[in-house]
Amino acid sequence: MTAARITVNGTAAPLAPAAPHTTLLDFLRQRGLTGTKEGCAEGECGACSVLVARPGVDKPTDWVAVNACLVPAAALDGQEVVTSEGLATGGEGGTPPALHPVQQELAVRGGSQCGYCTPGFVCSMAAEFYRPGRCAHAEPTAGTDPAGAPHPAGSPDRAGAPDPEHGPNGFDLHALSGNLCRCTGYRPIRDAAFAVGEPAEDDPLARRREQAPPAPAATAYTEGGSAFLRPASLPEALRLLGERPEAVVVAGSTDWGVEVNIRSRRASCVVAVDRLAELRELRFASGHVELGAALTLTELERRLDGRIPLLAQVFPQFASRLIRNSATLGGNLGTGSPIGDTPPALLALDASLVLAGADGEREVPLRDYFTGYRQSVRRPGELIRAVRIPLPLAPVTAFHKIAKRRFDDISSVAVAFALDIEDGTVRRARIGLGGVAATPLRALAAEAALEGRPWSAETVGAAAEVLRTEGTPMDDHRASAGYRSAMLGQSLLKLYAQTTEAVTS
Ligand code: FES
Ligand code: FES
Repeated sequence: MTAARITVNGTAAPLAPAAPHTTLLDFLRQRGLTGTKEGCAEGECGACSVLVARPGVDKPTDWVAVNACLVPAAALDGQEVVTSEGLATGGEGGTPPALHPVQQELAVRGGSQCGYCTPGFVCSMAAEFYRPGRCAHAEPTAGTDPAGAPHPAGSPDRAGAPDPEHGPNGFDLHALSGNLCRCTGYRPIRDAAFAVGEPAEDDPLARRREQAPPAPAATAYTEGGSAFLRPASLPEALRLLGERPEAVVVAGSTDWGVEVNIRSRRASCVVAVDRLAELRELRFASGHVELGAALTLTELERRLDGRIPLLAQVFPQFASRLIRNSATLGGNLGTGSPIGDTPPALLALDASLVLAGADGEREVPLRDYFTGYRQSVRRPGELIRAVRIPLPLAPVTAFHKIAKRRFDDISSVAVAFALDIEDGTVRRARIGLGGVAATPLRALAAEAALEGRPWSAETVGAAAEVLRTEGTPMDDHRASAGYRSAMLGQSLLKLYAQTTEAVTS
């Protein structure tokens, strides 16, 4: 096994003597790459955004932006990282380097004032700049601005954009949903995002996409008595977990980073499972679809491409693009948080979990999985290998997340519906809830109040009353118990309004 190292801006950097819990952010800054900033150290501001070469969805490699404050540097053993310092080109022989196109647009459009957030915005924008197919369906067109003044093709105005969240150049503003700026204001940043063109033919990072990313390294990095281990296969991972029952399992590390940075947690052994091929399959079979537990939410979003409409509603509301680029379905279920966003949707979809252990696999319905606050039936040494969703899918689905902000926020309450309505009658109802109990749960009484009854204002009104009584919501800094209960009922009324509007319009 070779010594652990990361390729940063094209140069190999040895990991030693960094401690295994050292975040990529600290690792970079300790090497003098101080463009990458620390704002919050818990994945909420994006000041630490950097680019990582990952297996691509449409090309061999995608440049993916991640929060460097959350990921352990050891998790990048053998991988390629690009920081804001590595984006400019040229600069040899005493000539000044040329700004990267996204840096150039931010500079000329006033997208930076104090500059603290800017390197993070630059990296998130660069990831979107290099997203394959970004420009394919959205060509800048000439038109008029909202005041009626003409503007030329390619101006940062929104003419030609397919929807309010995309620019005329195809730029998806969700790419910046995890980046906060406290002093510039977002308009000039958005203008810069909507003004970038296509990568030039000789753009080195665009060309790099045509080659495969580095294979995951089997890592056994120990320093100062603690270890970061990346097994090469599922059997090896299960063996390791059997030998080291105290090990902390990580995938995207979005929870691990918060534990390390905010709660000063130091695990003696961390086992990474996010690159295990056995946990990264997406397969449509007869009767169900199987989603690998270690696929990131962004990979699932892009590879499913709307084929599970309820999950397609969840993805844009789950934290931010930066988090979704690392976070996994297995991680969201494994932490067992009662306010995770995917469990309510997966409960409504009647999903089950495939748990892999030393003695083989077993399948557990998600409704039986959670046993208490952050507790589950998963045994020590078991890993979530995949999530199975039965097919066919219910035709009427909705995900309502009630939070203080639209994006990059934690839900106060989340409600997911999956209804089978045939000839005006509710044949089957599944409702998943988050934020109203110590665990995510099914709204069984409200489901019973709907099933077998006409999908009418009367039925829905009565079922909404029942839904308000589900769970054991509590008061906290996000919402009161009364508000949470009220939102449950309102969610069902909203769904009814949406479905009847769709029928009558
Ligand atoms: Fe705020 Fe990393 S420092 S997201
Ligand atoms: Fe100051 Fe964004 S430019 S925080």
